[in-house]
Amino acid sequence: MTAHFLEIRDLAKRFPDPDGQGELTVFEDINFDIEQGEFVCIIGHSGCGKSTILNILAGLDEPSQGGVVMGGKEVTGPSLDRGVVFQNHSLLPWKTALDNVRFAVRARYKDWSRQQVTEHSRRYLSMVGLEQAQDRYPSQLSGGMRQRVGIARAFANQPNLLLMDEPFGALDALTRGTIQDELVRIWSGTEQTVFMITHDVDEAILLADRVLLMSNGPHARVAESVRINLPRPRDRAEILQDPAFYTIRNHLMHFLVERSRQSQEGGDTADRPWGSKPPEVDPASTSAEAPATPAGKSERPQVRAVQ
Ligand SMILES: Nc1ncnc2c1ncn2[C@@H]1O[C@H](COP(=O)(O)OP(=O)(O)OP(=O)(O)O)[C@@H](O)[C@H]1O
Ligand SMILES: [Mg+2]
Repeated sequence: MTAHFLEIRDLAKRFPDPDGQGELTVFEDINFDIEQGEFVCIIGHSGCGKSTILNILAGLDEPSQGGVVMGGKEVTGPSLDRGVVFQNHSLLPWKTALDNVRFAVRARYKDWSRQQVTEHSRRYLSMVGLEQAQDRYPSQLSGGMRQRVGIARAFANQPNLLLMDEPFGALDALTRGTIQDELVRIWSGTEQTVFMITHDVDEAILLADRVLLMSNGPHARVAESVRINLPRPRDRAEILQDPAFYTIRNHLMHFLVERSRQSQEGGDTADRPWGSKPPEVDPASTSAEAPATPAGKSERPQVRAVQ
């Protein structure tokens, strides 16, 4: 069996029920692989467990069941090989923007001189448009600016696996576009692998090779792995001229509006064998004749099981 860069097996997270009786299963039977260099987004409704999965991949949270293997080694705790951009920008409040980035860079590149660390950190801060704000403390920055420091810190560490939890949610459209472009530029020039949570379907299509769709919790599962078969480089304006963009977009929206609920109530994932990976779907190549807005299950594109 071929080894994958990242292997997620039988992951489940359970909490004790608030009433003390039994337990609440947030998600279970999460099985998927990610290859080195892939850009994977995960989409699902609030509360289905996306951040929990990301934290488990980061080694910051423990699953109730199952495990994660990266590069052949089991993930048992945090590592500098895995960089995280958190949902709630977590900066050290007593350090300036620049020192927050420097702190991380110094930990990663221990043999670098002070000047190397500072130059490298400054470069990434200016990449997110914060060169003027480098000496400000987090309390003196807006929410979006804090988020950008967190992004600069994660990018500057050049981790093998970049884990991002709604990294661009707090940014205005223009800044978001610029940083998305920077992210793709950095990612495409390296062997970096990206796993990113987003609520923005268009963002996922613009950035990802593959989008994992999570059904609603409790008992959430990954219902489908959707291939984003659009040529790169992708230009945010040009992509809107491509009919395949809308085919994929409709497929994702239809899942969020209709199927994410159905899967929980007995459709979609309910009849899938336990321990199997989600079916891989390529809407752009299988539904060329499908109507723009799928109205029923019969119009779903063909799915193909992947091993
Ligand atoms: N300590 C806890 N005890 C009980 N339930 C918890 C605990 N921590 C998290 N949960 C539950 O786990 C679920 C998953 O949380 P998580 O933050 O991973 O969701 P999410 O998909 O990232 O949501 P969002 O899109 O809103 O960020 C939520 O329903 C939450 O209520
Ligand atoms: Mg979350």
